Amino acid sequence: MEIESICCIGAGYVGGPTMAIIAEKCPHIKVTVVDLNKDRIAAWNHEDVSQIPIYEPGLSAIVAKARGRNLFFSTEVDKAIHEADMVFISVNTPTKTYGLGKGMAADLKYIELCARQIASVSTTDKIIVEKSTLPVRTAEAIKNILHNTGNGVKFEILSNPEFLAEGTAVTDLLNPDRVLIGGDTDAEGQMAVKALVDIYANWVPKERILTTNLWSSELSKLTANAFLAQRVSSINAMSELCEKTGADVNEVARAIGMDSRIGSKFLKASVGFGGSCFQKDILNLVYIAKSYGLNEVADYWEQVIIMNDHQKRRFATSIVSTLYNTVSGKKIAFLGWAFKKDTNDTRESAAIYVADYLLNEQANLAIFDPQVSEMQILSDLDYLESRSTDANRKGISVSEDVYENCKGAHAIAVLTEWDEFKTYDWQKIYENMQKPAFVFDGRNLLDGEELQKIGFVFQSIGTGK
Ligand code: NAD
Ligand code: UGA
Repeated sequence: MEIESICCIGAGYVGGPTMAIIAEKCPHIKVTVVDLNKDRIAAWNHEDVSQIPIYEPGLSAIVAKARGRNLFFSTEVDKAIHEADMVFISVNTPTKTYGLGKGMAADLKYIELCARQIASVSTTDKIIVEKSTLPVRTAEAIKNILHNTGNGVKFEILSNPEFLAEGTAVTDLLNPDRVLIGGDTDAEGQMAVKALVDIYANWVPKERILTTNLWSSELSKLTANAFLAQRVSSINAMSELCEKTGADVNEVARAIGMDSRIGSKFLKASVGFGGSCFQKDILNLVYIAKSYGLNEVADYWEQVIIMNDHQKRRFATSIVSTLYNTVSGKKIAFLGWAFKKDTNDTRESAAIYVADYLLNEQANLAIFDPQVSEMQILSDLDYLESRSTDANRKGISVSEDVYENCKGAHAIAVLTEWDEFKTYDWQKIYENMQKPAFVFDGRNLLDGEELQKIGFVFQSIGTGK
């Protein structure tokens, strides 16, 4: 089956970039990305392509090339589904905030809505692709909804989880380690798998396109994120021990990473992992394990989250204790709010939790991030409901100029590893701060020796400095 028209439901961090690359690499396929969020679609269609809603290096150039040619962004969800041979579901699957499984299970209401909508508007056979990260066996529920429409339309369901990381989405999509496609093992299922393989084969070498059954594919995505997050929690656990013993976590990471069985990636100690997925996906894994009565499996993975929460809290408490056990009324400058560099995404960013802790200690926070707006920072803090919206507005200021941001501060906390932080005039920053001037580097980003020479009191995660 040759695919001519694709619809992607969900124009977010995954749907937007993924479809932009498919459109770029497959000019013969019409790709329409739809979303209920009118503002998001308007931003994707913004005349000035630098205003698209997601900041990802290299993305705007690709959108500029394909948009209007074979890439379209629209709010006409029904129309796009109706016209498509293949429908990607790329909507959000957040942690449930209510009812059974609250705080752990994935909330599948958006997925179910999509399935019902596809069922109700389809008049021709379609391949439905799960792009969102889903609990294992979700395809079963989607099949049930789609196969019981009674209108004679045939649907094949595939699982095609996305492994891109934010900040490197374009390179990850153009050159993926692997593309994973799970499908039914019968002839129709395998035909659907082939149709999707053929799309990726336009730019991904065949040997990197892996096909499995549906359940292996769904579970592999949760497993991959759990393993990645586990590495961060493992090195972060060691960072605390390093600080007590005089070992340097960077040296330890290098030493173990040179063992080819361990590998050098994902061993960067930090203030804690953030992002919309690691925590949500591990909680989901824990919930699934518990629902099968596998309590030891559940406890094992839950520890990754417990360690991560500890790391965020530990960073904040160490700021307070170093600043003579009080930060009340003191100005603390934050460098970075995004959950990692090269993205404007702040979901579950460690900065939010460190800020919350310090605001509870009545600190005044001055926040600078090269890509995150004041509105976003305030909305992140308001979302926690730790204090009134007024108190959040009184407790923080946001600056677009880093030197202004640090002026008069008692301390600087580095929360995101933006490269530009390394290039600042640190002498100038030092001169305008309260003395002693502290830097708490939550990312092991800055050159501590250089800063100490200037006069800063410098502390970095896991180095004992
Ligand atoms: P997102 O919140 O950025 O985007 C989801 C979009 O779906 C939103 O714009 C929302 O308005 C839209 N939506 C929800 N229900 C809809 C409906 N019924 N009809 C039309 N639009 C609807 O989410 P995201 O970060 O793109 O993540 C999407 C999925 O991909 C999640 O399951 C996530 O776990 C997974 N994932 C995310 C990443 C990442 O880096 N963000 C990477 C891999 C996988
Ligand atoms: C992660 C995975 O890397 C992707 O493969 C996956 O597709 C995606 O989740 C998803 O499912 O959403 P992402 O969250 O965008 O991607 O970014 P990562 O590079 O994985 O970083 C996650 C967090 O871990 C960040 O806060 C980062 O700063 C932190 N981290 C990462 C560390 O603290 N140390 C490291 O060594 C690596």
